[in-house]
Amino acid sequence: MELNVDGTIHVVDVEADMPLLWVLRDELKLKGTKYGCGAGLCGACTVHIKGEAVRSCSISAGDAQNAPITTINGLGTPAARHAVQAAWIEHQVAQCGYCQSGQIMTAAAFLAKTPNPTDAEIDDAMSGNLCRCGTYPRIRAAVKAAAT
Ligand code: FES
Repeated sequence: MELNVDGTIHVVDVEADMPLLWVLRDELKLKGTKYGCGAGLCGACTVHIKGEAVRSCSISAGDAQNAPITTINGLGTPAARHAVQAAWIEHQVAQCGYCQSGQIMTAAAFLAKTPNPTDAEIDDAMSGNLCRCGTYPRIRAAVKAAAT
C-alpha cells in the first residue's frame, strides 16, 4: 500500500491491519513517534492525519492510507521549526523526553484550531497526553507561548 508520510509517498508491504505506529517506526524508520502503551491511552504515538491528532497505535495502516500523515519527523526542521517545537525548546519542557513528541503533535493540532486558548482549554486539550515526569506546567507554558 501507499502511505503519504511527511510529504513523501512510501510504498510499504504490510498487512492492512498493522497499526500505523509500527509501520512508521519499523518499516519507515521514523523513530520520533513513540510507543508508550499501545492501547490508545498515553498519547506518546500521536501523529496528524489530515491535520487531526490521531493515536497511531490505534489506527491501522489500511485506514491511514488515503490521507496525508504528519509525524514529529516532518512537523518542522532544525532550520524551520514549528512554533510549538520552538516554544518547547524555549521553555525547556522535556525532562526524560519520551512523551514529548506526542505532546508536541497534540499541541500543534490543537493550536491550529484554537489559536488563542485559555489555560483551561490548554489543560483540557492536553489532558490525554501523559507525562510520567510531570512536565505539565511547562507544557502549558509552552503551548501558551506558541499561541501568541
Ligand atoms: Fe498510542 Fe499510548 S502508544 S496512545
